Amino acid sequence: MPEHSSAHQHSNAHQHSCEHSPNTEPHSHHSHEHGPHNNASQPDASADPAKFWEKRYGGQDRVWSGRVNATLADVASQWSPGRSLDLGCGEGGDVIWLAERGWQATGIDISATATVRATAAARERGATSARFIAADLAHWIEDPARIDSSEHGFDLVTASFLQSPVALPRERILRAAAARVAAGGRLVVVAHAEPPAWAKGHGGDFPVPEEDLAALELDARAWEIEACETRERATTAPDGTASTLLDSLVIVRRR
Ligand SMILES: C[S@@+](CC[C@H](N)C(=O)[O-])C[C@H]1O[C@@H](n2cnc3c(N)ncnc32)[C@H](O)[C@@H]1O
Repeated sequence: MPEHSSAHQHSNAHQHSCEHSPNTEPHSHHSHEHGPHNNASQPDASADPAKFWEKRYGGQDRVWSGRVNATLADVASQWSPGRSLDLGCGEGGDVIWLAERGWQATGIDISATATVRATAAARERGATSARFIAADLAHWIEDPARIDSSEHGFDLVTASFLQSPVALPRERILRAAAARVAAGGRLVVVAHAEPPAWAKGHGGDFPVPEEDLAALELDARAWEIEACETRERATTAPDGTASTLLDSLVIVRRR
């Protein structure tokens, strides 16, 4: 998948896939994201999530860069492959990257447009062990076996920027996801910990890592905390100046 050539383009090879393409509106995107916002562009928080995200993806050819998120690439590149699940996979950048490294990688997203796009990108890149499911995670948490009934569970569950300006039971989803992690497997939660410098003051949830860790309600005897930290990431602001983004990172491993 070709990369972006927008003002948001990064110089690093492992950039965050959660980036705008050049034709992104200033925008109805999730509230943590880039670009100046005004009240007129703030989405209606009571909008139907499926319709909101379908419109978001349907409104342009591509929303994200197609590249793996830098923080995930940093932490996961040394891990032995197994079965993985990405929650809110968007256009599949992380899933395809994992598949290219030998993972049996599944991504779930509420937008069928996003998963169709992800499937096409995986095919284009020859990532044959990537698969994508269009499903609402709010439904998945009621019955995870409908999507994955394997006894083994997942060796890796990832949630990269699973953040939304409309309804999303994020904490319940993360807890349900933790329950599907196999012994020795990991859950990795990456989130925007604060809005970008050029969009300070706009609303949205920006979890600090301690909040995400607490939300998991893990039994300390059964889990090891491998990371609970923030990480800075270089980016380019819409006006072309260098800026930094702050990611929240939580990695927990089932003993
Ligand atoms: C900010 S984007 C992040 C996409 C991708 N993980 C990345 O890093 O580029 C949030 C994603 O969550 C998805 N999403 C939001 N609510 C969802 C839900 N209830 N079930 C499944 N996916 C959902 C959206 O469609 C969107 O693709």
